[in-house]
Amino acid sequence: MSRFPEIALAAALAALCLSGPAYAGDPAAGEQVFKRCKACHAVGDGAKHRVGPELNELIGRTAGTAEGYRYSSAMEKAGAGGLAWNAETLAKFLDDPKGMVKGTKMSFAGLKKPADIDNVIAYVATFSKPSEAMDAAPKPEDKKTEAAPTEPKEESARAEPVKPAVAAAPAGEGGGLNYHLGRTATAGEIAAWDIDVRPDGVGLPDGSGTVAQGEKLFDAQCSSCHGDFGEAVGRWPVLAGGQGTLKDDRPVKTVGSYWPYLSTVYDYIRRAMPFGNARSLSDDDVYALTAYVLYLNDIVTEEDFELSKANFGTIEMPNAQNFIADDRAEEPQYLANKNNPCMTDCIAGVAKITMHAEVLDVTPDVQDGDDKKPSAGIE
Ligand code: HEC
Ligand code: HEC
Repeated sequence: MSRFPEIALAAALAALCLSGPAYAGDPAAGEQVFKRCKACHAVGDGAKHRVGPELNELIGRTAGTAEGYRYSSAMEKAGAGGLAWNAETLAKFLDDPKGMVKGTKMSFAGLKKPADIDNVIAYVATFSKPSEAMDAAPKPEDKKTEAAPTEPKEESARAEPVKPAVAAAPAGEGGGLNYHLGRTATAGEIAAWDIDVRPDGVGLPDGSGTVAQGEKLFDAQCSSCHGDFGEAVGRWPVLAGGQGTLKDDRPVKTVGSYWPYLSTVYDYIRRAMPFGNARSLSDDDVYALTAYVLYLNDIVTEEDFELSKANFGTIEMPNAQNFIADDRAEEPQYLANKNNPCMTDCIAGVAKITMHAEVLDVTPDVQDGDDKKPSAGIE
């Protein structure tokens, strides 16, 4: 079943009926769809290149030409060959990126629903100047025979610096602590930074989420990099598996095989993921995603398992027992100086280099039966 006739028809109708910028889709619905692009693309004021190029003034832009972004040679060639972005070419690209531009480094499988494609194009087009948006097709009086690709405009407002959104705080807020930011931090500012979650659960927000909910979120916002089952796409990090490999030359360290505490999973996802769009997930979303990562690692097995603040502490990670408390502070040489550590001239006389790491050979020897050399060996 091909969806292109439909799109072409919609585009043709839109072009016929309306003189202004017009797209078959609904920009508001497209904003929702764009969440799937956000991990890699930015639009709007101050948009910067992320994993992928920023998409302001995209309509009319020649493929592979956003300034300062390093494209694949495939995308650059496509642009040199005349590919410019409009409703039609975008629809084709977003349906099957790798099918349309062979060798593109956009690791995104494509949007399955034609409506999603229409809507996201309509949304992205709101960040292109209207004149370029629909007048990309040549007018009759135009001397040029082909739609000339428009170069990205330098004078666009996108580089305007973003003003900090915080007002000066009245003295006294923020517990009277001084972080030398020029004024006292507000309670709200401190709360926004203070999001760490500790192994004993301190810092966890209220909320909950199930494996099944997490699966939906993961498919939409994580699988493009981490793979459908956490097995990773290309060289993005693996999130599942690797059990029993920790003693190998090349251990596969994942949440399931290595991580000692579940709190780190929650904290990491909430703080840093999806990559390029950090802090966009709700607390419940993060519970659901954490539950799903547990499921991918067979640490929980039921799809209706619900992770919450209340049962968080009951989950024990498989490798937890292999981590030991760092007790170096109890060793005599640390203990002696604990309250008064030496900070300058701690060795009498001139410091001498007694050994080089290269000679000391900190890399383990190849064992009998190992066929591969250790990876970091120095000759
Ligand atoms: C996993 C990251 C990722 C996701 C998700 C992603 N893209 Fe991309 N996109 C890229 C990369 C990387 C490139 C550059 C491709 C190249 O150089 O071959 C790109 C290129 C593009 C281009 C060409 C831009 C230009 O300047 O020529 C468009 C248009 C585009 N993406 C739109 C989208 C839209 C719309 C979505 C969401 C439906 C999306 N992308 C999702 C990474 C991504
Ligand atoms: C655009 C690609 C991309 C997307 C999308 C993405 N991640 Fe990641 N993820 C990464 C990268 C890159 C790292 C490693 C970052 C680092 O080491 O600094 C990472 C690391 C992680 C880690 C830690 C892995 C480890 O063992 O160190 C977890 C857990 C994780 N991501 C979960 C998620 C979840 C959940 C989502 C969806 C909400 C998501 N990621 C979406 C790229 C991505």
